[in-house]
Amino acid sequence: MSTPPLTSRLPTVGTTIFTVMSQLALEHRAVNTGQGFPDFEPPLELRERVAYHLGARHNQYAPMAGVVALREAIAAKVARHYGRRPSPGSEITVTSGGTEALASSIQALVHPGDEVVLLDPAYDSYQPIVELAGGRAVRVPLARPGFGIDWERLADALGARTRLLMVNTPHNPSGACLAVADLDRLAALLRPTGAFVIADEVYEHMVFDGQRHASLNGHAELAERSIVVSSFGKTYHSTGWKVGYTVAPPALTEEVRKVHQFVTFATASVLQYAIADFMTAHPEWEDQLPAFYQQKRDRLVTLLAGSRLSLEPAHATYFQLVDYSAISDKPDTEFALELIRSNGVATIPVSPFCAAPPPRERLVRLCFAKEDATLQAAAERLRGL
Ligand SMILES: Cc1ncc(COP(=O)(O)O)c(C=O)c1O
Repeated sequence: MSTPPLTSRLPTVGTTIFTVMSQLALEHRAVNTGQGFPDFEPPLELRERVAYHLGARHNQYAPMAGVVALREAIAAKVARHYGRRPSPGSEITVTSGGTEALASSIQALVHPGDEVVLLDPAYDSYQPIVELAGGRAVRVPLARPGFGIDWERLADALGARTRLLMVNTPHNPSGACLAVADLDRLAALLRPTGAFVIADEVYEHMVFDGQRHASLNGHAELAERSIVVSSFGKTYHSTGWKVGYTVAPPALTEEVRKVHQFVTFATASVLQYAIADFMTAHPEWEDQLPAFYQQKRDRLVTLLAGSRLSLEPAHATYFQLVDYSAISDKPDTEFALELIRSNGVATIPVSPFCAAPPPRERLVRLCFAKEDATLQAAAERLRGL
C-alpha cells in the first residue's frame, strides 16, 4: 500500500521554542527559567474547589460559551478593573486557554488573502494560525529602545487588505505596556480602516511600578472593533489548566463562538465552576499580583547585580529580558542552547518571536515566575558567565 503524498499546511513550522527549551532543560538538568510557567501552585482554595466540583456532578459538557457563573464573574471583573461591564450572554466566551481564544478569534476574522499586522517580537502562535486561515502576516518591528509601537511603520503597514492587527499588552517578552495615550492614537489610526484588533492581554494583572494596565476593554472606541483575550493560567498560577476567555462586541462574539464550538465545543466544566467560585469569593486576588510579581522581579534584578548581563527595564509580565552582548556575540538561539548545555540555565531567545532577519540585539528572556530558590540557582549560574 502506498502512502499518499503529504503536503504540510505549515511547512516552516517546527516544535515551538518553549517546548524545545523545556525538553533540553530536562535533559541537561538545567534550571528552567525558560518557558513561562510558575514553579509554584495555584491557590489552595481554588484547587479545593476543583476537587469539590469533581464530586458535585460537574463532569459533563459545559455550555458552549462557558459556564454562566464564570461568565458573570468575568463581567464583574472587567467592570471592576476597566469600567465597562460586558454582557455575559452576548460578549464573553470561555475558551480552552488564551491559545484557543487567539486561534478561534483569528480563524473567525481572517479570510484568504487578508493581511494581518503583527508587531515584532510577536507571540509565536499568531502567524501559523493566520496562515492556516489563508491570511498573510505583515510583520512590523516594535520601536527600540522600549518596545513601543513604531507609529510610522505601523501606519505604512495598514492598507486596504488589512483585516486585523494583533496587539499584545502587557507584552511578552519585553514587559512593555501600551498607555491610554497609545490606545487613543491607535483608535485614530484605525478609524479610517476596516481593520479589527485582537488584544492579547493574558498578562493584564502583572503590571508594576505603580503603572495601570490600559485594557482595550476600557477604551470605548477600540472595544467596538476588538476581541480582548485573557487567560486564567497566568492570573491563578494554573497554566496547565488551559482556561481563558474572549470579550468582544456581540457580532464579533457570535463569529468567535462559531469557530470555538467546532474546535473544542466547550472547556473543562469542573475548572470553570471552580474558577467562578474563587473569583466570586476573592475579587481581591488580582490586586495582590502586581506586588507579588514585582517582588520576584526585584529579587532577580538584585541577584543578577554584578553579573555581565545587562537588564532591560521590565515593567510588566513575568519576564525579564537580559542583554548578553558583554559575554558573547553569538546569535540568541545559539547562545541560549550553549547556556543550557554548558551552564545549566534554560532561557528563551527573542528571535523566534521575530520575522527573519533575526534582531541584531543580543537578548534572551528569563521567566521570574519561580520560587526564590529557583531564581537563586539560575542567578548563581548566570553570575559565573
Ligand atoms: C502573549 C501570550 N499569549 C497567549 C498565551 C497563551 O495563553 P494560555 O497558556 O492560556 O493558552 C501566552 C502563554 O504564554 C502568552 O505569553
